[in-house]
Amino acid sequence: MTGTNGNKLISTGIMGLDEMLGGGFPQGHIIVAIGDSGTGKTTFALHYILDGLLKGEPCIYISIEEEKEAILSAASAYGWDLEKYIRDNKLAILKLDLSDVKTTARRVKSELPEIIGSFGAKRLVIDSITLYSMMFDDAIERRIRLFGLNKAIKNAGITALYTAEVNVDNQLHSKDGMVEYSADGVVFLQQNESEKDIKLIMRVVKMRRIQHDRLYRPYEITGKGILVYSNEMVYQGFGKGADIPGNGR
Ligand SMILES: Nc1ncnc2c1ncn2[C@@H]1O[C@H](COP(=O)(O)OP(=O)(O)OP(=O)(O)O)[C@@H](O)[C@H]1O
Ligand SMILES: [Mg+2]
Repeated sequence: MTGTNGNKLISTGIMGLDEMLGGGFPQGHIIVAIGDSGTGKTTFALHYILDGLLKGEPCIYISIEEEKEAILSAASAYGWDLEKYIRDNKLAILKLDLSDVKTTARRVKSELPEIIGSFGAKRLVIDSITLYSMMFDDAIERRIRLFGLNKAIKNAGITALYTAEVNVDNQLHSKDGMVEYSADGVVFLQQNESEKDIKLIMRVVKMRRIQHDRLYRPYEITGKGILVYSNEMVYQGFGKGADIPGNGR
């Protein structure tokens, strides 16, 4: 699909989110989905990968914390069989070892571009970029590593989705406070608590090159994955409504 100003758009695989973006993520961009624990970041990433696989695109899923089996079983719980794509050499799930910083850093720097190239991958997931960054103790090294990784991904021409943990003290930023500035696009996933219930809300904060919806929209995680209600408003007084800028005012 082509966007209003000629960008090729890559479907996110998430019903409702594509509508918020006018079609999907711009090709070749790095997008980060930032959210608290349990807001559906891994599910989001699985949707994105599955959509690519269904279109015949080779995909790479880099998991930092969860084992390959855990990723496969999370997908299978939604009814998505990823194993057949691994057998067909269309999907690679790579688990990075955090305990061996040097080897992991070297693999990401030198092997990743090679793997992307030889695999002919069109979509890449890193789940999560926060855990990758946190591997490096020094803030300057963290920045250098992140920017180096972004550059390698840009050079490879792949469309990448990172997941990131939110900063608990400032819900409008990621934990490392860096990834949202270096990414081309940012989507926030939030859990909003009220006295009555807890609701999930999603917001596209930035998406370079395209016009997009900026409002918070409710979403659900069902047995079939994430469903965004892209036409529904999040009203003031909804949850901690006073904290939500931009909607219903
Ligand atoms: N098969 C399923 N059917 C329905 N809901 C599910 C299913 N799998 C997960 N969920 C719901 O989705 C939530 C989020 O799952 P997910 O693992 O995608 O979140 P996450 O943001 O990646 O979490 P974490 O911070 O632990 O990495 C779960 O806590 C659960 O409520
Ligand atoms: Mg996760």
